[in-house]
Amino acid sequence: MTLLKIARMGHPVLWAEAEPLTFPLAGAVQRLIDDMIETMRDAPGVGLAAPQVYQSVRLIVVQPERGPDAPVHVLVNPVLEPLGAEQEFGIEGCLSMPDLQGLVPRYRRAAYRGFDRDGRPVSGEAMGFHARVLQHEVDHLDGILYPMRMLDPRDIAYTKETTHLIERMNRLAGEPSR
Ligand code: NI
Repeated sequence: MTLLKIARMGHPVLWAEAEPLTFPLAGAVQRLIDDMIETMRDAPGVGLAAPQVYQSVRLIVVQPERGPDAPVHVLVNPVLEPLGAEQEFGIEGCLSMPDLQGLVPRYRRAAYRGFDRDGRPVSGEAMGFHARVLQHEVDHLDGILYPMRMLDPRDIAYTKETTHLIERMNRLAGEPSR
């Protein structure tokens, strides 16, 4: 397996709408999946989308639970649907925007569906942090980075200033209704 180079904000691949994949996946795509998992773990990150490694295809890997042995989910051609209108603020980072964090409203609950790497249908419901990670990664497939989801340009900060972002989040009391 190979550690992949991660595209940073400004590279056009991150603004592009990614193409769906067809099954069976080519051997190169299977290798890409293994390399993305290794790259995400090495970073370390909780999710990685193929456009972040310069491949404009609809493929994400996520590891929403903490810990090195937590399971990694591979989702091909993922589709997300919010469940309910409730949103909450949370602090997000992105491997394509190192050293920065943002205060981002996301749906609290979402239903997801897609396919695993063998083409089997996968579906489920996600809440809280898991739902947030999925929304962030699926956004990458549509050329969306988290600053585009922020409600106020002041909601981005260098990680050294995270305490101020947390203060802002607490002041907003999780209610994105400015
Ligand atoms: Ni990201």
